[in-house]
Amino acid sequence: MPADLVKIRPATSRDATRIVDRLKRELTPEGGFWHNRDLIIKGVRAGELTVITVRGRVAGFLLHGDREMAILEIWSTYRRRGLARRLAQFGMSRIYKAGAERVCIQCTPFSSVPFWKSMGFVPENGDEWCNLLKHTPAEVQTGQP
Ligand SMILES: CC(C)(COP(=O)(O)OP(=O)(O)OC[C@H]1O[C@@H](n2cnc3c(N)ncnc32)[C@H](O)[C@@H]1OP(=O)(O)O)[C@@H](O)C(=O)NCCC(=O)NCCS
Repeated sequence: MPADLVKIRPATSRDATRIVDRLKRELTPEGGFWHNRDLIIKGVRAGELTVITVRGRVAGFLLHGDREMAILEIWSTYRRRGLARRLAQFGMSRIYKAGAERVCIQCTPFSSVPFWKSMGFVPENGDEWCNLLKHTPAEVQTGQP
C-alpha cells in the first residue's frame, strides 16, 4: 500500500456514527464490537478515537488513550495490507510517550493473537492460552507513513 494514500487522523462525530452503524451490520453470533458503541461515540470528544484512511475512505479505527488500546479493527476488505500495524504503532507511540514502560492488551477475539505477536507482543506470564499480551520495546515508530 503506497504510503501517501494512507493517513491516520482523529475521528469526527460522523466517522464515529458510521463506525457504529457498520459494527451493527457486521454483528455475528460470535460477537463484534457493537456493544462498545457508547465508548466509540464518546471517544471522539475525548480524543480517543482515531481512524486510518485509504484514499480518504475510512478503512479502520482504533479506540485508545494514554494508557491502553481498547479496540482495533480494520474493515475486512482492507486487511493484510499493513494498516493495523500502522494504527497500532500510532497507539503504542502515544502510550510510551505518556510514560508507560510497557503496553498490555486484552487480546479479544483470540484470532487476533498472530497479529499482536507480529507486533512484538508476548503472552503475559508466558501462558500461550492467556489472552493478555504485553509489549516492552526499545523504540516505537509513530505509525504515520
Ligand atoms: C487483527 C486485525 C486488526 C489485523 O489487521 P490487518 O490490517 O489485516 O493487519 P496487518 O496487515 O497490519 O498485519 C500485520 C501482520 O500481522 C500478522 N497478521 C495479521 N492478520 C493475521 C491473520 N489473520 N493471521 C495470521 N497473521 C496475521 C501478519 O504477520 C501480518 O503481516 P503480513 O501480512 O506481512 O504477513 C484485523 O484482522 C481485524 O480487524 N480483525 C477483527 C477485529 C480484531 O480482531 N481486532 C483486534 C482486537 S484485540
